[in-house]
Amino acid sequence: MSDQKAGSELKPIKIWSRDDCSRIPQWVYTDAENYSQELERIFYGPHWHLIGLASETPNTGDFKRATIGERSVIMTRTDSGDISVLLNSCAHRGVEICQAKFGSQKEIMCPYHQWTYDLNGKLMGVPFRRGVKGKGGFPADFDPAKHGLRTLKVENINGAVFASFDHNAPPMKEYLGDENYKYLIRIFNGRPVKAIGYQRQRIKCNWKLYMENIKDPYHASLLHVFLISFGLYRIDQKGETVTDARTLSHNVFASIRNAPGETSGTEDMKSFRENLKLNDMSIVQATKEYDDDVTIQIQTIFPDLVLQQQGNSLQMRYVIPMGPNEFELLWTYFGYEDDTEETTLRRLRQANLTGPSGFVSVDDTEVLEYSRAGIGPNPANDAVLELGGREAKPPADGNMVTEGPIRGFYQYYRQVMHQEGTGLRQ
Ligand SMILES: [Fe+2]
Repeated sequence: MSDQKAGSELKPIKIWSRDDCSRIPQWVYTDAENYSQELERIFYGPHWHLIGLASETPNTGDFKRATIGERSVIMTRTDSGDISVLLNSCAHRGVEICQAKFGSQKEIMCPYHQWTYDLNGKLMGVPFRRGVKGKGGFPADFDPAKHGLRTLKVENINGAVFASFDHNAPPMKEYLGDENYKYLIRIFNGRPVKAIGYQRQRIKCNWKLYMENIKDPYHASLLHVFLISFGLYRIDQKGETVTDARTLSHNVFASIRNAPGETSGTEDMKSFRENLKLNDMSIVQATKEYDDDVTIQIQTIFPDLVLQQQGNSLQMRYVIPMGPNEFELLWTYFGYEDDTEETTLRRLRQANLTGPSGFVSVDDTEVLEYSRAGIGPNPANDAVLELGGREAKPPADGNMVTEGPIRGFYQYYRQVMHQEGTGLRQ
């Protein structure tokens, strides 16, 4: 499929050229019909999405608007103190009810015909339900209980609120698998968390390329000259790669920065300039705050979340697709409620490595837009993923010289999307 030579028969699109995931057909990044299937099967299917921190809506009636796929939802603190997540679309005529990013309200009222819901999405009031002066009104058997806002399944894990459109989605612990769950609660460990900053950007490429980028330690040691120049990341540094056994779609890289002077075998990697030094080391100097020595934890939770510890910087990135060729990336930086002012400053200072203009992340944005430029006009070509073998999982010893987690993502993706291969293995 990768070479459609002049005169050769055009093969039908929507088939993968191999049964394994060592080749990715590039139409998965560009095809509009494939994209609308992704929204239905992946984003609105039995998968979990981080909506926010419970502390972003601390009091009854507080809400935060969020997006899953292309659907807007409202996270609300209810009268009982729980969190509800509701579809931001009136049960009457589908109007988007809430436009504010954050706010507080006693009830939820649609601006169009003032249908009014309680904080759990239950329909409480319908104007002119019984008509006016005996005229008009809804049928006698109109049942408000059947016309509430659509509710999502919610799981609050130590202050991190996840939601799913599918009430049959497995519990988060089962969804993630023990190892990935362990890393999630390494960060959300019961110490109350609080947001300390937000950033947002649009990147002109398919949303999956971003998830791939985070599952790709190959590029991190080559593209990111900031990391290489200052010895912040080497592909062989100590750590582990953990892909969940059930779906292969969630992944963690947990690594420990090499000690000063420790040789890595990668000293010939391209530095931007010889002997470059940071004038202010505080931007990268991390203090130990967990029981282990992990300095970088980068976790991808299928389909659309990145959770990262980079030194003392803690952050979540929400991937919000906007058609096949663009997505919005929302960053929430957070810390713990009992952090000192100095700790918060340290977290914010180290956040300069990431975000839309981060010393490291800016490289990804640029190269991902080059990806779109190269892939867009070439949907019939295949991408090649053979680093670390052709298996859809990382090497048994957990080394990071691999594209295994990306192959794992696509193995699960194909299962969810019902996409077959040609029967060829290689
Ligand atoms: Fe990167």
